[in-house]
Amino acid sequence: MGNPFCPGYASEPFAGLVLDAPGAEVFNPKHFRTEWGPVFHRGRLDGTARVLVLGQDPAEHEAISRRILVGEAGQRVQGLLAKVGLTTSYVMVNTYLYSVYGQGSGNKHAKDPDIARYRNRWLDALLVDSPVTAVVTLGTLASTAYGLWALTQPATAATLHHAALKHPTFPESASHAGDTTLKAATAALHADWNAHLTALAEHVHAEAETQLEPYAGQWRPGDRVEIPAQDLPAGAPDWWRSLDTWADRTGADANSKRATITVTVPKRARTWLEV
Ligand code: URA
Repeated sequence: MGNPFCPGYASEPFAGLVLDAPGAEVFNPKHFRTEWGPVFHRGRLDGTARVLVLGQDPAEHEAISRRILVGEAGQRVQGLLAKVGLTTSYVMVNTYLYSVYGQGSGNKHAKDPDIARYRNRWLDALLVDSPVTAVVTLGTLASTAYGLWALTQPATAATLHHAALKHPTFPESASHAGDTTLKAATAALHADWNAHLTALAEHVHAEAETQLEPYAGQWRPGDRVEIPAQDLPAGAPDWWRSLDTWADRTGADANSKRATITVTVPKRARTWLEV
């Protein structure tokens, strides 16, 4: 038996949006890894989404699986959605179609009008006259992007609950930048997400029981949730959506690292060893 799968972008307006995706003429390859292609979304495009998640930019797992928020950040978000009773009725897009390259590159393009124009077409398609009731933005770039869209659609924006959350990998980025420790930044992320949980739950139509138990300040089993099969393209192996890390940038220097994503079948998916 095969898995359910994401049917992709065959219907309008998404087919047209994919055809119109800007490339290196808009996303400067000095600042974006355009060579890995645009990664558009994850979740429902059939009008059944009730929450929109606006992330930042795709990373390694997303470049391979061709869906956004599939790796560590995505599993953390999937856990957050589960807490407010959402298992499949969401849709996710990123602030940027391509992975950000280099220090500060994301900030440089935070208000780029060409990037915003294209992104706003996706947000219009997903939010205007739609049953979405809440928007979750991940990090300051996503919050800024959402604010730019809201200025163009004030009537729709006024009907939506906006939960402006810290980015799910804030602990790693802040501690890597030397601003704080991983432990303190994880506690700060959890405090931030806890502060939004109740209001978010009040503004979404839960499909499953809510589990509003707050985050504990350190990750616990169950805080990360597997990506549902119907979010990935047909034929995606199960381990692409598992909690294992299976993709990494590797290389001896910056150029080889930019050119290389190493994909490794996780130990527990090495089924050939069992036959
Ligand atoms: N992957 C994404 O697609 N978006 C993020 O914001 C982070 C990781």
